Amino acid sequence: MRVTAIVLAAGKGERFDAAVPKLLVRIGGKPLIAWSLRQLQRHRGVGDIIVVSSPFIAARLERLVRASRFTKVRSIVFGGERRQDSVLQGLGAVGRESGIVLVHDGARPFVSHGMVTSVLSAAAKHGAAVVGVPVKATIKESKGAGPVVKRTLDRSRLWEIQTPQAFRKAVLERAFQRFGKVAVTDDAGLVEKLGVAVRIVPGRYSNIKVTTREDAQFARALVREGAV
Ligand code: C5P
Repeated sequence: MRVTAIVLAAGKGERFDAAVPKLLVRIGGKPLIAWSLRQLQRHRGVGDIIVVSSPFIAARLERLVRASRFTKVRSIVFGGERRQDSVLQGLGAVGRESGIVLVHDGARPFVSHGMVTSVLSAAAKHGAAVVGVPVKATIKESKGAGPVVKRTLDRSRLWEIQTPQAFRKAVLERAFQRFGKVAVTDDAGLVEKLGVAVRIVPGRYSNIKVTTREDAQFARALVREGAV
């Protein structure tokens, strides 16, 4: 089944306080988004790539795609207000021949070849799969939005979910049709509402999402240490 990857790069990067747009900030000698595009370009299981961009960086992304010979990028489309709106824009650009859609945050540079392989094979087999790691921290739920603890969650059953996430295209389309208006922070959130079981396949703690400048410093340190 042909696989299309949707790479998200349409966030405002508001929590990333810098003059350079977050997705273009340099990590280990190349723009942040180039890391995951390179990995997907090289993966034989990925047929083509759709980049969902904000209008502010689209021209620069186009130049990057050309200069880096990311030949699998079939189009660059504009995103929406929320992350899920951007995914929906990307989904609209997926070709008819694709049976599996892989969604990845452009802000997550260190996705590995193995993660892509395992999330794709789990999605082909089960319909929906995400990459995740066991939570290391103690997580407490507060009363309302205030700083008072309501309860401590059972860590042995908690996972930090990352991207890539992969789905049979029909499953993801159905999830958007039925629940697209519900606010979620990842794509699997909509698929869960359909009642489709979402498989978790092993991610890595190094598969970080660069949100703040501190994350970018951490990402550079991982590159320097040869940890990615
Ligand atoms: O906001 P969040 O940290 O969840 O963003 C994760 C990824 O989704 C980032 O790569 C960001 O560029 C992308 N995004 C998007 N469109 C939005 C919001 C986020 O493509 N409206």
